[in-house]
Amino acid sequence: MGKCPDCGEWNMLVEERSAPSRADLATRGGLFRRREVSPLAYQDIESQTEARQPTGIEEFDRVLGGGIVPGSLILIGGEPGCGKSTLLLQVSDKLTGTYGKVLYISGEESERQIKLRGERLGIKPQELYLLPETCLERIFEQVDRLDPQAIVVDSVQTVFSMKLESAPGSVSQVREVAGQFLMLAKNRTVPVFLIGHVTKEGAIAGPKALEHIVDTVLYFEGERHHNHRIIRAVKNRFGAANELGIFEMTGHGLEPVLNASGLFLNERPIGVPGSVVTACMEGTRPLMVELQALVASSKYGTGRRMTQGVDTNRVSLLMAMLEKRLGMDVLGDDVFVNVAGGISIDEPAADLGIVAAIASSFRNIPVDERSAVFGEVGLAGEVRATNQASVRVREAYAMGFRRCVIPQGNLIGLEYDDGIEVIGVRNVSDALDAMF
Ligand code: TYD
Ligand code: MG
Repeated sequence: MGKCPDCGEWNMLVEERSAPSRADLATRGGLFRRREVSPLAYQDIESQTEARQPTGIEEFDRVLGGGIVPGSLILIGGEPGCGKSTLLLQVSDKLTGTYGKVLYISGEESERQIKLRGERLGIKPQELYLLPETCLERIFEQVDRLDPQAIVVDSVQTVFSMKLESAPGSVSQVREVAGQFLMLAKNRTVPVFLIGHVTKEGAIAGPKALEHIVDTVLYFEGERHHNHRIIRAVKNRFGAANELGIFEMTGHGLEPVLNASGLFLNERPIGVPGSVVTACMEGTRPLMVELQALVASSKYGTGRRMTQGVDTNRVSLLMAMLEKRLGMDVLGDDVFVNVAGGISIDEPAADLGIVAAIASSFRNIPVDERSAVFGEVGLAGEVRATNQASVRVREAYAMGFRRCVIPQGNLIGLEYDDGIEVIGVRNVSDALDAMF
């Protein structure tokens, strides 16, 4: 078959060897080979004490949900050059202080290159061991010999198992390697970090193929052209997903950015139509981001829509709502929407910000620079309440905003500082009246 009957894409099929026989599985011992496997009564199972180990790199601990859980398998994905190796070397250095021996397995760089990077980072780890090896079976021998307390695999695509004939980096190899490391992590109760490249071809044999195997998935997001790096927890069996960590790439490695909102509002143009600040929640953290819209009359009959950082379909929907409910003639225009700073937002609370930005550009009137806005917008033009309204308003106040337009439904029980004026609105029309 040339075409995948599942997703409809061409040339996606890859060979996968049949699963090992049951006898073979028995010798491998399954996932928890140290214990005898028989049904356990729920009440007899000892609850695990909160054994999270913070790394001391604040933003990294935040995405992990407070620290590393022993025995967890953590996948870190990102495009080449975004800083995966740098981050993990910094983390390894910290872990040698708290855990003891850390094994850094590198299939991409020689030990000299890694040392060079370490010198640039200014780290002096005592018990960091580097292993330039790509054969899974030989790696496991070395793990048995060294007995490390944490393991980093850079990258999972370079490691191969001799049991399979397919090439390193193929889906079956990458899955086998991840599966074996999962068992290793659980059996030895050591954390294992897998680095995975997001390849040009997208999902094939990349970190996406492993998401269901591992405990935690972290992705580097945003553009490489910015100095800051955003790490997002896409999945976390031990904490909240969607949590963000924000770093800045400096001459000596990745440094946590503590004032995240400040970073995204840094270069905000003042008094320019089409720029609106909205309060988002990224995981547990409130974040003020600038939405920018540009509405330009189209040279051709049909308007184009281009977005960066927000969903294009959502923008189309909001535009149709503006046209139908407010008589704003935008559907024939070219509309561009951008989130400043290369971050992407996918929560409906940004709707009202998008609407205000489009309206501001369309009317060519700037929004007051000290006003912020948030709220979900429905098809009838109604503004719906969002979660965490108090947190958002407080962040707006902390970032110097003195006026906040929010859904009416969020006013009840809202806690905020007197220094900020809060305006509750029921629909988009009221919201725009309050903003302009
Ligand atoms: P790297 O960690 O090698 O990326 P990955 O493992 O994800 O492919 O990071 C590479 C980039 O980071 C490279 O462009 C150089 C830059 N960098 C710095 O700016 N400062 C530093 O201290 C280090 C170590 C790297
Ligand atoms: Mg690397």
